[in-house]
Parts: sequence; structure tokens; C-alpha cells
Amino acid sequence: MENFDWKNLGFGYHDTDYNVRCCYRDGKWGELETHTDPNVTMSMAATCLHYGQESFEGLKAFTGKSGDIRIFRPDENAKRMQRSAEYIRMVAPPTDLFVEAVKKAVDLNRRFVPPYGTGASLYIRPLLIGTGAQVGVNPSNEYLFLVFVTPVGPYFKSGFGPIDVIVDRDHDRAAPLGTGHVKVGGNYAASLESNHLAHKKGFSTVLFLDAAERKYIDECGAANFFAIRGNSYITPVSHSILPSITNLSIQQLALDMGLAIEARRVELAELPSFDECGNCGTAAVLTPIARIVDETNNKVYEFAKDGKAGKITTQLYEKYRAIQLGEAPDIHHWIVTI
Ligand code: PLP
Ligand code: COI
Repeated sequence: MENFDWKNLGFGYHDTDYNVRCCYRDGKWGELETHTDPNVTMSMAATCLHYGQESFEGLKAFTGKSGDIRIFRPDENAKRMQRSAEYIRMVAPPTDLFVEAVKKAVDLNRRFVPPYGTGASLYIRPLLIGTGAQVGVNPSNEYLFLVFVTPVGPYFKSGFGPIDVIVDRDHDRAAPLGTGHVKVGGNYAASLESNHLAHKKGFSTVLFLDAAERKYIDECGAANFFAIRGNSYITPVSHSILPSITNLSIQQLALDMGLAIEARRVELAELPSFDECGNCGTAAVLTPIARIVDETNNKVYEFAKDGKAGKITTQLYEKYRAIQLGEAPDIHHWIVTI
């Protein structure tokens, strides 16, 4: 077992022992390869470097209560990478290859999977990049699919503590940019300045609005937005939102708890009517929101007034974590163990 201060680990990159790679060349995928070198060598004319022909995924592995290693829904990430690849004319690995590579990368780096009870997890980053040399704006005919892992702690310093969020109305900088339904690197570069400004003002992240009218809620930084009102779980639907696998899973758990699901356009103006708000994603898990500040309209919306997550957010968080950690039965067959 690697000697990390697991309980105080932040969300960052650490070198591990191995990464797993597979090359697409001459119209077919090759064999899975095991590498120890974290560097990638490619042509300076590779399409990923110039035209952003790349897609990445994010998922996690956990040490379960009984000591098994548990990967959360890797098949869903495989399918999403295939959708992202189609959007930017890449060749994506088939689901079996994707899942096998993820399992192999975790298995080879077992000593980096944080122990049960530490709150940390192994973040898995599958990456697909166009490596063929082009100078015209054309898709590559060669691809590298790579999976690396890194042990991580909470994405927000607060852990499960409620965060403050600022509304971003400058959509020239926003992450979704109308292509949020795919997970490609270019989206994120466009969000860096927005996040930087939010952090400078003391906010944990940004609430992006729809680009056309700036009336509807899109996403909350690198995570989906959700709200609880009465017996309903409300979450925005928009072409600009990345369909979060966490959100999909939480909606299932909300249904199991007898909540109604309202997946629809959500107006910013509805905020005062919500009992609880939060964001959700692989990195963010479920993070309650304490305050949403809309500077343009001089408005502050407050949730979690006593500094604690609301009752339903807490229940959803606990159910979700219990399945990931093997403390509750995996009734929806989400877990792949190795
Ligand atoms: N929204 C964006 C823009 C993201 O990058 C992510 C993270 O992957 C999410 C939402 C959450 O998605 P998931 O729950 O599949 O990690
Ligand atoms: C994730 O939740 O996996 C993300 O991709 C968010 C961020 C680290 C990019």
C-alpha cells in the first residue's frame, strides 16, 4: 500500500506505477499495452494539439467495506466517450475494450487505491486523442486511447460541506459553449478564466446559464446542478449540459426513495422556491450549495442556512456512497469489482 496521508489528500495528480494504452492505426485497434512512462510522444502536427480532437472521461474506483476494489459504472463512461468521439469525428474504443483497459489500469495500480474509510478514491482518467499528423482541418486517421489513474480526495475543500457559487453571465467563457453534451477538452479550456475569477472572489465554482437567454440554469462548474423542492428532485435539461453519470444514478436513488423527478428546463428565477440545491459529478460527488450569488441582479440565494446540507441531499449522498463503498447492496448493478 502506497504511503499517502489518505485522509488529507486533495484532488490532484500523482504519478502511479502504470498506465494502459491502445493505438488505433490502419483502421483497427491494436493490443492493450502496459506503460510505466507517463509521457506521450507524438507528431507536433497531431490533431489533438491543434484542433482539440480529444475526449476524456472521469470515473472512480473505491476500496469496499469487505476489501474488494469497486469501479463505478465504467460502461456508461465508455458509451459517453463514444458519443463524444462521434461529435468530433474520432474513432472511439468499443465498450469492452474501454472497460478492460479501465480494469487493467486499476488492477496494475492496486497499491494506489485508497483504503476503505479514508474518504479518498482512485480517480480514473480515460483519454482519447487524435495522434495523426494533419495541417488541414481534418480528422486524424490514428488515435491513442490511454487510461491513467491517480488517488484523489475531495474536489471541493469543504468535502460534503456546503459551497458558495457565483452566477456566470459571460457565456463567451462558459464551459458548455453549446457542446456540453460531449466531454471534450476544449470545453474546459473555455471555462478556466471563469473559474479563476470565481475563485478570486472567494467562490468555489460557477453557475452557468443558457447561452441564448441567460434565463435557465445549465451547469455548476464541472458538475450538474440539482435542486430539491418538496418531494421533487429537479435537474436541468439542456443541449449544453454534459449528461452526468452521477446525476443519472442519483435520479435512480431519488426514485427509489419515492421522490418525483423533474428533468426539465430550470429558470434561475425559480431559485427562491428551492428547499435544497447542490451539484453532482464524479469529482464533486454530491456537494450541497450554501449560497448562489447573482451579482448582476444584486441577489443572494441562500440554502443550507445552518451551514449543513439539507435532509434529502444528505440522504441521497449517503445512499450513493454506501453503494460505491459496498455498505449497501448494489441493487442496480452499477459496480464492477476486480
Ligand atoms: N458536467 C461536466 C461539464 C463535467 O465535466 C462532469 C464531469 O465529468 C459532470 C458534469 C459530471 O459528470 P459525471 O457524473 O459523469 O462525472
Ligand atoms: C469529473 O467529475 O470526472 C470531471 O471530469 C470533473 C473535472 C475533474 C474535469
